[in-house]
Amino acid sequence: MILKSLEFENYRNLLHTVINPDEGINVICGENAQGKTNILECIWLFTGGRSFRGAKENELIRFGEKYSRIKIEFFSEERDQTLEFMIQNGKRKAVLNDVPKQYLSQIIGKFCAVVFSPNHLSLIKDGPEERRGFIDGALCQIKPSYAVTVTRYRRILNERNALLKDIPRQRELEDTLEVWDRRLASEGAAAAAERIKYMNKLIPTAFAFYDGISGGREKLELQYKMNFGGTEDMSVPELEEALYNSLRKRRSDDIYCGYTTAGIHRDDIIVRINGKDSRAYGSQGQQRSAVLALKLAEAATLGREKGESPIILLDDVLSELDPSRQDYLLRRLSGMQVFITCCEQTVRAENVFRVTDGAVACIEKNEDLSDE
Ligand SMILES: Nc1ncnc2c1ncn2[C@@H]1O[C@H](COP(=O)(O)OP(=O)(O)O)[C@@H](O)[C@H]1O
Ligand SMILES: [Mg+2]
Repeated sequence: MILKSLEFENYRNLLHTVINPDEGINVICGENAQGKTNILECIWLFTGGRSFRGAKENELIRFGEKYSRIKIEFFSEERDQTLEFMIQNGKRKAVLNDVPKQYLSQIIGKFCAVVFSPNHLSLIKDGPEERRGFIDGALCQIKPSYAVTVTRYRRILNERNALLKDIPRQRELEDTLEVWDRRLASEGAAAAAERIKYMNKLIPTAFAFYDGISGGREKLELQYKMNFGGTEDMSVPELEEALYNSLRKRRSDDIYCGYTTAGIHRDDIIVRINGKDSRAYGSQGQQRSAVLALKLAEAATLGREKGESPIILLDDVLSELDPSRQDYLLRRLSGMQVFITCCEQTVRAENVFRVTDGAVACIEKNEDLSDE
């Protein structure tokens, strides 16, 4: 996948420009609060995902303006393509290759990227929600139909939770739980099976990356942990049975709590380094290496499954890594199109952009670098 051009109009503080990145490493440098991360965020939006900064659509529009229009030209599936977004009234509308799309979900998987920022340390340090978000985000790009399954699961879960809250006041409603449990188990099992399949591909890759980063001194172990009694070797019907049984068994607990205590919305990835839980016992350096390995594995898995490498977005991460890990990262990413933001330009790159108060200028082009 190659991003050939990026145009932004009324996007955050960025001035209306078209930039033409290089197929290799693109460095985006500038002082703080100039608009570097805004560029990466803008590129990321074309994956169909939500802003990695958690921004709402309206916050993306330049202050005082009513809309924002952003557009990319990219090369994928052996042809030139375009994707354009109109952001207005809290909504993002997509036009793919000049065809307007009704739903954003219709463009997921067309333009693929992996983003890595210092915030991603939360993948190890924070709760299970972060790690579920990691699997779900990665899987949606590989298999867009997974997003549909998860959305359906969410909807059923919300209905069931609403019902659980009503039951104490209207006991006769309890009988209707059966229907929701069946439906939740069916969607949940389909999603869990996809997550297991994905993790089986990711785990050996992440293991190898961590081995490389630690110079073979440490071992990274990952395990997808289901809280409803499901195990990795189960078939979809077996997962469904396990989830259904778990929901049934916990009905009275769930009514008491007012929400659903079992299901794929409570699962987790266990991350161990040398046999110890990295969240509780990992040093800062080990945690950083683990995130790096996970992110590299995400990119490699996505590339393998899609048959082309995703775009890599590195937001302020290089300065957080020591020189040997920086070096490792850049070596692993060679051959991919990479965007790196930083304050001081320290990396040799094909293209260097400087951002000054929202104005983006290409200040250096090294055409011959890739031939070395
Ligand atoms: N909707 C918006 N309209 C105009 N400016 C914005 C908007 N959202 C953020 N900004 C500005 O963008 C700048 C931050 O950009 P950012 O990309 O985070 O900077 P950095 O170069 O440090 O990565 C700030 O100056 C902020 O005021
Ligand atoms: Mg920034």
